[in-house]
Amino acid sequence: MAEFRLPANSRLIKGVTHRAAAGAAEVRTFRIYRFNPDSGENPRLDSFELDVKSCGPMVLDALIQIKAAYDSSLTFRRSCREGICGSCAMNINGLNCLACTTAIRELGAQVRIYPLPHLPVVKDLVPDLTNFYAQYAAVKPWLQAHTPASPDRERLQSKQDQEKIDRPAACILCACCSTACPSYWWNSERFLGPAALLAAYRWIIDSRDEATGERLDELEDPFRLYRCHTIMNCTDVCPKDLNPAKAIAAIKKMLVERRS
Ligand code: SF4
Ligand code: SF4
Ligand code: FES
Repeated sequence: MAEFRLPANSRLIKGVTHRAAAGAAEVRTFRIYRFNPDSGENPRLDSFELDVKSCGPMVLDALIQIKAAYDSSLTFRRSCREGICGSCAMNINGLNCLACTTAIRELGAQVRIYPLPHLPVVKDLVPDLTNFYAQYAAVKPWLQAHTPASPDRERLQSKQDQEKIDRPAACILCACCSTACPSYWWNSERFLGPAALLAAYRWIIDSRDEATGERLDELEDPFRLYRCHTIMNCTDVCPKDLNPAKAIAAIKKMLVERRS
């Protein structure tokens, strides 16, 4: 029988509990993953009892309050607080989402917060996105046109053609989708994942781009594209209501059609 062993420092141990102050009006417990790979210690789950009346309504507000009031070493990414930058993506109560657009009141009395799954952890809730960004760069997410642009005007596009790229271009590269995808978990070195493939689709269907054939050639590969098995987790979790699974299916259809 096959025997599997977890890496030595992967077991989660019980962490520290920080109690709410006496007289707290409305207490929720935030159980937060803590890990510093440089320390040589195992990851742990710290509990923070927070009076949610003392902070704003979103999970990101709670994290900021916890960092300010209990433990300044708690590490997470955030910038815009408006669901625009994608940097606060994390796994909250089992779902990948943005901390700044997830309301505390929609979660239970216990809120479990982990980093995005199946990525190396830099520290606490900060995952290493190096491979994710490299895959995005690999699809050449910029306009490729061999025809010189007119010197006195931009490259024009009809309203209908612009609307085709409107939604896919709204991706904020939060990585919620790719890190929710089981195919990406097992093959993240070779499968591009839904975020990068949505970006590829956005340029394939751009009426101004002239590298459609080369872009499709790059994707016609058993791993880069075809490791998508239409499980749909990506579309389920996208905080911008985008549909990477549909874009991937459209690319597969284009590849079939160009063969016939
Ligand atoms: S549809 Fe494809 S890319 Fe999306 S979660 Fe499923 S396997 Fe992954
Ligand atoms: S498709 Fe959605 S979930 Fe995926 S990276 Fe873009 S915004 Fe995030
Ligand atoms: S802080 Fe920018 S998306 Fe959450």
